[in-house]
Amino acid sequence: MHITRLSDALGAEVTGVDVSDIDDAEFAEIHAAFLDYQLLVFRDQTLDPEPHIEFSERFGPIETRPDRPFTLPGYPEVSVLSNRIVDGEPVGVISAGDFWHTDLSFGEIPCRATFLHALEVAEEGGDTEWSNIYTAYDTLSDDMKERIADLRCIHVFDRRRNRRAQVDKQFADKADEVYGVPVQDAVHPMVRHHPETGRKSLYISPRFVVGIEGMDDDEAQPLLDELFAHQIRPEFRYRHRWRQGDLLMWDNPCLIHIGRGNIKPPGIRHMHRTMVLGDRPH
Ligand code: OGA
Ligand code: MN
Repeated sequence: MHITRLSDALGAEVTGVDVSDIDDAEFAEIHAAFLDYQLLVFRDQTLDPEPHIEFSERFGPIETRPDRPFTLPGYPEVSVLSNRIVDGEPVGVISAGDFWHTDLSFGEIPCRATFLHALEVAEEGGDTEWSNIYTAYDTLSDDMKERIADLRCIHVFDRRRNRRAQVDKQFADKADEVYGVPVQDAVHPMVRHHPETGRKSLYISPRFVVGIEGMDDDEAQPLLDELFAHQIRPEFRYRHRWRQGDLLMWDNPCLIHIGRGNIKPPGIRHMHRTMVLGDRPH
């Protein structure tokens, strides 16, 4: 197995391993690299749904929901992300992440790790970009660290309640529910401790955070604007140009990410995704 850093900000490429067939020693190496680099890119993976699920489950329980649309037949654990249209109907979620976010932070127990496997990639467009929110926290001034130390943020799924987001055309009539299930707001600490490393991150995102508990918007919104801008400073980021066969896994407590979209027709980008749950943010 070879592990090579991808950028100064975050991420490593892993070659010489087949994730559908790893032993405990390889798992230990992958796990350690995951904590060190926050995002791992496994190249050239042929991955059926079962091994995709099995590999994911080594990191936590898989998040599934009843009646979630666009899962693989027989595999409610695996979501399809795709811009393919068949007989006028989409076969997957078309834009899964068009604003900076960390996965499922609107839930009481958010997503720990996301596993996204590229079966087909478009010639142009469809990049994904991550930003390191450990570094975002570390580089705040001491005054700011003190100011935000005990703040708690309100995470909301419904885009209509977020002036920084726009309603997703594909799910416009379902803006207040996640795949058939209405969701309650979640409140999480603005400064989160990573469940394994214990390091602090600036655990907010413009897609899901709409306010600060107990703080007037006159004060909260400018503070959020300042922190959202800081979170995505170019030097904190890594942008991935997908290749067919890439399996990416990323650590949601310490990264935010965005799907850059803009797939140039007739390009098709078709992916399978699993998510595993982590701890209650503290
Ligand atoms: C996701 C996500 C972005 C992309 O799957 O959680 O945000 O580029 N995807 O597909
Ligand atoms: Mn996402």
